[in-house]
Amino acid sequence: MEFSIKSTHPDKQRTACTVVGVFENGQLTVAAAMLDRACGNALRTLIERGDFEGRNGASLMLHHVPNSPCERILLIGLGKEKEFREKDYGNAVRAAMKALKDCGAAEAYLTLTTLTVTNRDSAWKIRQAVLIGQESGYRFEQFKSKKGDKTPPLAHLLLAVDNRKEIAAAEAALAEGLAIAEGIALAKDLGNLPRNICTPSHLSDTARQLSQEHALHCEILDRDAMAQLGMHSLLSVARGSDQPPRLIVLRYRGLSAATVKNAKNGTKTGKPIVLIGKGITFDSGGISLKPGEGMDEMKFDMCGAAAVLGTLKAVARMRLALDLVVIVPASENMPGGSASKPGDIVTSMSGQTIEILNTDAEGRLILCDALTYSERFKPDAVIDVATLTGACVIALGHVASGLFANNHRLANALLDAGNESLDRAWQLPLWDDYQEQLKSNFADMANIGGRPAGSVTAACFLSRFAKKFNWAHLDIAGTAWKGGAEKGATGRPVALLTHYLLGRAGRRHD
Ligand code: BES
Ligand code: MN
Ligand code: ZN
Repeated sequence: MEFSIKSTHPDKQRTACTVVGVFENGQLTVAAAMLDRACGNALRTLIERGDFEGRNGASLMLHHVPNSPCERILLIGLGKEKEFREKDYGNAVRAAMKALKDCGAAEAYLTLTTLTVTNRDSAWKIRQAVLIGQESGYRFEQFKSKKGDKTPPLAHLLLAVDNRKEIAAAEAALAEGLAIAEGIALAKDLGNLPRNICTPSHLSDTARQLSQEHALHCEILDRDAMAQLGMHSLLSVARGSDQPPRLIVLRYRGLSAATVKNAKNGTKTGKPIVLIGKGITFDSGGISLKPGEGMDEMKFDMCGAAAVLGTLKAVARMRLALDLVVIVPASENMPGGSASKPGDIVTSMSGQTIEILNTDAEGRLILCDALTYSERFKPDAVIDVATLTGACVIALGHVASGLFANNHRLANALLDAGNESLDRAWQLPLWDDYQEQLKSNFADMANIGGRPAGSVTAACFLSRFAKKFNWAHLDIAGTAWKGGAEKGATGRPVALLTHYLLGRAGRRHD
């Protein structure tokens, strides 16, 4: 879908459909009132008759309203004006996209972007509208021989701003929205692919392709290269599979010598930010085999990898002024004849030894070596993203990702980015008291800490490999995909991460 920014008043804009909001007490928004005046109070009359109550997310399509400049008027309910917040704005735009998709209009004028949303500027509203618009058009049908519903006719969406002065900023926000949406779509596509096709080698092919499209530096380590580095924890996970593991390393450089000097927001040093994504392309549990029911969903166990690759794509598209390194340890976790057994002890790249008491706690085993590897980049911050623990789904459900960090500023910046992008995270503790649960009788540590606080002990395990830098860990087990009838990858937390990086590059708007 194409987007453009317009500051035309809705009573002057000819379109196939103009979308205006109505509050719950029947109060028209500024845009609706303008249109209402143009067409002899048709909207007010209809509301007074009780045909539209303005409940948040409700919609009513009107055809051929006399004297209006548009073929259709779409009324969108906004709810109570006093309580109109980010979430209500999102619901309203989503309802508009749904109704637009179901009608025959090829182009529409969305005026909801001129509504007042507490604490949010016009750039935020534009970015969010673009993200919702692109999300509503997402399909994953490459394996269906008959494609689903025909492509909806809506091809062009005009987004309203209040006046000409806002156009330049809104256009910048539109470009950002499109870049983020592209990153989200990549993360969803990679997440949704079946794992007989998207193996660790396929993932590294995709990474290489991405590096060619955006002139990134790309290095892919195979089993031998990893063995040379001493990554025996990572390699132990791959032992049960016929698919060879990969360590994917991509580097984006957005800081020229000049920008290093002038950069705001503490990026002066030019130290990179490192993103690490868990890339288990299928998690059977290994010898500690998972139960069969719903095991197909463990194809989503590489959604951390998908998210960091999607974020990199968005960052490269926006040409953000920062340096970024993306690392993806990629492997299957399978119960083959050479697979790790409970009780096995491996030596990680850091030199610390690990007793593998449960082969299903494999995420931390690949991430710990990726964390140690990231030291070589002298990072400003390292953020790992992983579908790490079922316990995180129990703690936070499918609403918030779990956040852990060894640095307050980094944690707060990520929490803020989550709030701003509506891709929220919630912080959980990393106190030393929990470290005791990882005690092993035979090695430096065990790879599991028992049932209590399972997400915390997983993060505690990782923290032992992240002592040399500012580090945060996002557990996205509950947020990376949806199950049930809507089964599919969500693309989270690409929005959170890109908003964080926008801030780091001095481009945050709010
Ligand atoms: N990939 C899973 C975590 C997971 C499970 C995410 C279910 C989403 C839904 C991870 O590798 C795993 O198996 N974790 C174990 C750890 C346990 C053995 C300590 C878990 O959560 O059960
Ligand atoms: Mn597992
Ligand atoms: Zn896993």
